Amino acid sequence: MTTIEELGSLKSSVLADIAGAQDTSRLEEIRIAVLGKSGTLTVYLRNMGSVPKEQKAEVGRIVNQAKQEIEGALEAAKAELSARELSARVASDAVDITLPGRSQHIGTRHLINAIIDEISDIFLGLGYSVIEGPEVETDYYNFEALNAPADHPSRSMQDTFYVRDMTGKVSAVRGESDILLRTQTSGVQVHAMEDQPLPIYVVAPGKVYRRDVADASHLPQFHQIEGLVVDEGITFGDLKGTLDFLCKQIFGPDRKTRFRAHYFPFTEPSAEVDVSCGICHGEGCRMCKHTGWLEILGCGMVDPNVLFMSGIDPEVYSGFAFGMGVERIACLKYDVPDLRMLLDGDMRFLSQF
Ligand code: DAH
Repeated sequence: MTTIEELGSLKSSVLADIAGAQDTSRLEEIRIAVLGKSGTLTVYLRNMGSVPKEQKAEVGRIVNQAKQEIEGALEAAKAELSARELSARVASDAVDITLPGRSQHIGTRHLINAIIDEISDIFLGLGYSVIEGPEVETDYYNFEALNAPADHPSRSMQDTFYVRDMTGKVSAVRGESDILLRTQTSGVQVHAMEDQPLPIYVVAPGKVYRRDVADASHLPQFHQIEGLVVDEGITFGDLKGTLDFLCKQIFGPDRKTRFRAHYFPFTEPSAEVDVSCGICHGEGCRMCKHTGWLEILGCGMVDPNVLFMSGIDPEVYSGFAFGMGVERIACLKYDVPDLRMLLDGDMRFLSQF
């Protein structure tokens, strides 16, 4: 076979390969095999020196023509195959805009925050302000200014978390530190009486801490809402009316309240308030331990001595105070059997509220 014939058959077999290529990577293989550094056509061009003189011009023309034709065919095939590949990719990657969306999980307010907001709103509606006080307190605000006698059991190390004092000591014995985690929100009453102009109508929600082991009805950290009114001519009747209204707002208009005499160091007289059981409506059931009533808060008339210690003249002003546990109210309102469920972070439970 002459060189010219060889070139002719090489060209037609390469063109046939190009025509039969199914994808662009096959085209690239062909290009390298023919036109690459040691490709068949490149080798022809490199070996032009050995072609007899009289054939040189003719062979050169044919090689160049073959090269041009192959390059043109490669280019055309590449354009067609890459367009085909692109549309196949577009079809397979396409987003189906008719599919229903996946909904994002949106968090909800925690039940405790919901109850705090609900009760705060009730009092805002009565013209009260919502205030806050410090969780790390001094013995003075948590106990002393609230008339808690020095031997009051709540002051003991068994009940109160004491904090490192100013000198850096962690108190092992009661009295060595006067800094503590508040055991009640009642200290905010003292801050309010010191800081606010009279008359005072405030509620103060917040966290409180006690050295209790968590069980179904105790938590070492929980929430209270404190209330304080100081004005001229405030009576026990105002207290009863306010708290009866509160209970009906929280639990429903058909619920009754009763006030039982009790003792708190900072109120005189003091009372505990019960609300009629929502399950048996007073008949007696397991929920209310067969009494028909559920205890929900403590309250009383502010002890004149407490007013006096905070610089308010008890001859001119009188007041009432109350305090309630938020977790307890949440459990009573929604029949939650165990306080610890409020802390578990189980969305099956929490998302119900
Ligand atoms: N601080 C009391 C407690 O933690 C609750 C309480 C009772 C608050 C009577 C009051 C009140 O303001 O008047 O048990």
